[in-house]
Amino acid sequence: MAEEKGVKEQTLVLIKPDAIQRGLVGSILSRFERKGLKLVGVKMMELDEAVLREHYAHIADKPFYGGVEKFMKSTPVIAMCWEGLEVVETVRRITGITKAREAEAGSIRGDFAMSVACNVIHASDSVENAEIEVKRFFKSDDIHDYDKSEYMHVYAEDERAV
Ligand code: PPS
Repeated sequence: MAEEKGVKEQTLVLIKPDAIQRGLVGSILSRFERKGLKLVGVKMMELDEAVLREHYAHIADKPFYGGVEKFMKSTPVIAMCWEGLEVVETVRRITGITKAREAEAGSIRGDFAMSVACNVIHASDSVENAEIEVKRFFKSDDIHDYDKSEYMHVYAEDERAV
């Protein structure tokens, strides 16, 4: 069971190769910013077979895994760590379902994608997995702790105190 972290809960988002190629980085980033989430880590990186096998271990035996690996290696990705109250669940909701063409309008996948593989972003699916995934892509020095002045307008006092 993950410990209660309040506004310091963190999640991992990867901006996938299709979004980089299509010039959607700014549009995707702004969805999270305007929601009131706090960016605490960001980096562009090339993913190798080892990290992809680890990250996608739950689909490694699926017939489409080879395609996922080829796609994720095709262009660098942007890894981001976002922080906020119940951020894992919130980011999953903003992201939309995996099969992007059926994702709800207004979600990132619903607005920007048509594919189950080229679905513009990856987002951690549970608090437990988010902790593992943030550590997979970021060293502790690459995660930044700072005060976000807008928090007094984003959260109520009791929510900030959790
Ligand atoms: S999710 O969002 O993690 O819950 O999605 P999941 O259904 O577990 O799928 C995991 C990743 O596998 C990719 N995927 C596929 N790629 C190609 N073809 C098919 N049929 C397919 N089904 C799933 C999907 O893009 C998910 O990637 P992530 O990075 O987790 O979104």
